[in-house]
Amino acid sequence: MGIADEDIERVRAATDLAAVVGEHVALRRSGTRWVGLCPFHTERTPSFSVNAELGFYYCFGCAAKGDAITFVREMQHLDFVAAVELLAGRAGIELRWDNTREGGERRRRSKLVEVLGRAVEWYHERLLTAPDAAAARGYLRSRGYDGEIVRRFRLGWAPDGWDALCRALSLSTEVAGDTGLGFVNQRGKLQDSFRGRVLFPIFDARGDPVAFGGRILPGGRGPKYKNSPATAVYDKSEVLYGLNWAKSEVVEHEEVVVCEGYTDVIGLVTAGVGRAVATCGTALTERHVATLRRFAPRIVLAFDADSAGQGAAERVYGWERRHEVDVAVAALPPDADPGELARTDPEALRWAVAQAAPFLAFRLERLLSGAPLASVEARARVAEEARELIAEHPDQIVREDYATKVAVRLDVRPEHLLRGQGRGRGARPEPRAARARRAETLSLLALNLAVHQPHAVADGLHDVLFADPLERSAYQALASSPTFREAVEAAEPEAAELLHQLAADEVADVDPGDVVAMLVHDAVARLLRKLDADARTSNGPPVDPNLIGWLKPRQEDLLDHARRSDAVGQLLPFLVARAEEGT
Ligand code: UTP
Ligand code: MN
Repeated sequence: MGIADEDIERVRAATDLAAVVGEHVALRRSGTRWVGLCPFHTERTPSFSVNAELGFYYCFGCAAKGDAITFVREMQHLDFVAAVELLAGRAGIELRWDNTREGGERRRRSKLVEVLGRAVEWYHERLLTAPDAAAARGYLRSRGYDGEIVRRFRLGWAPDGWDALCRALSLSTEVAGDTGLGFVNQRGKLQDSFRGRVLFPIFDARGDPVAFGGRILPGGRGPKYKNSPATAVYDKSEVLYGLNWAKSEVVEHEEVVVCEGYTDVIGLVTAGVGRAVATCGTALTERHVATLRRFAPRIVLAFDADSAGQGAAERVYGWERRHEVDVAVAALPPDADPGELARTDPEALRWAVAQAAPFLAFRLERLLSGAPLASVEARARVAEEARELIAEHPDQIVREDYATKVAVRLDVRPEHLLRGQGRGRGARPEPRAARARRAETLSLLALNLAVHQPHAVADGLHDVLFADPLERSAYQALASSPTFREAVEAAEPEAAELLHQLAADEVADVDPGDVVAMLVHDAVARLLRKLDADARTSNGPPVDPNLIGWLKPRQEDLLDHARRSDAVGQLLPFLVARAEEGT
């Protein structure tokens, strides 16, 4: 990322998370925390909590979590560097780049973007005014694109010469290659990449021009579309055409419509569906999904979902699970693409998008609506196919619900639509949002103290006191890290989640000495139970009476205010030593 680590630290240290969050959400003081309505999901009672001292937030409703940088990234849809830059600007900190190569890369990127921007304008101007663009203008008019659309999408015309662009912009061979605008041909001459094509400039989510898609005029030679090659600023599996324009409507509607082509996006926009983006000549990838998820929790596919290819279901359900996103499909009329439908029947296009159904519902509906259901034999065949579709869904509740509904329509018993028993293929039920764990148990109280008052419990706590593996690993991360932030970074994801929750929680109103003594008490009780259970097994060791005679009185001392710290001082090293022996 290139920003010097210590600068990132300075930015973090200089940033008041409560003030940053407070610019977007009304926060109210509650003990040591700030609470308010979560900006990342809709709610009426506050679940969003900010620990300004540690610099972390957590939402007990939707599990959104992070620090000031994460907050700015998610809130303003920025990447890491841009978020740090924004916070640095706020704090009046000048960033240094940690080595010249990285700084150089950034400069190179802005150079490419700058050149691509000039190319966008040059091609656009050609389309609007050049005599040789008359055929292109006629073609666009014939598609119903008026001047407003041409300007809005900054469409262009690449003349049918050899090197008109490269000469006009005085591109060096290197810059032409790096931007994908030109290349050195077999005769060793610099040649334009796009010739005789209508151009659709492609911008990244920030609005920087990064590439072009070029359409041949009817009757022209070569593939219908030609796209820029991959460059340092253009990666097809990540960039989505139109996202720069769609962004705000996507956020507002909490939904993005994904289609296949440039002309589909333009069609959707002219039909009044501004939240539309397209992949640029590739299938939708997981990285596209991850990018879109930053803007909206729901993705509507406005193309034939089966054209996503073999294994589409597995991929879609995987995305839904991993990115906590809902994927729906718009039921377009057969063979219609959104670009055409926008002209012939915009109302039908809007309707299809508005009626988009969950991926599984869409596929079942298509199966059922076209199927012959008159004979029991026919219904059995359809039931068989429906069962295969339903079995692909990873969630049992969802499978059962669809089975019930389809069973009614096929007049069969729901069991026939559920494969085998238990889980379907690839079934991995996972909670969509972590359930909040509050400091209700003794061990969680201890962790709460370890987060909020580490000095108060530093001498009294140890891994061995935590019986629950998740709590133990959260404690280990805390105990082995100099700061809370480093503990979060070092912890396994689930333990990190727990640490976020603890930081966002009320500070437990308890005496640390009580908590430590009770934890040790519990640990001794567990040990005594274990010794007893071992002795009961046929060839286990008998309980050592000396050991019991030593443990019991000290365990009782734990309940005595005056003696408990001595008892902890003796029992804890004993428990640790035993754990280390592995007995
Ligand atoms: P389509 O063939 O559906 O084109 O390809 P379209 O968008 O409907 O365009 P028109 O209406 O015929 O002009 C969909 C997308 O697939 C990519 C392009 O991104 C296109 O927008 N594609 C298509 C290519 O990359 N190369 C091709 O030769 C064809
Ligand atoms: Mn199409």
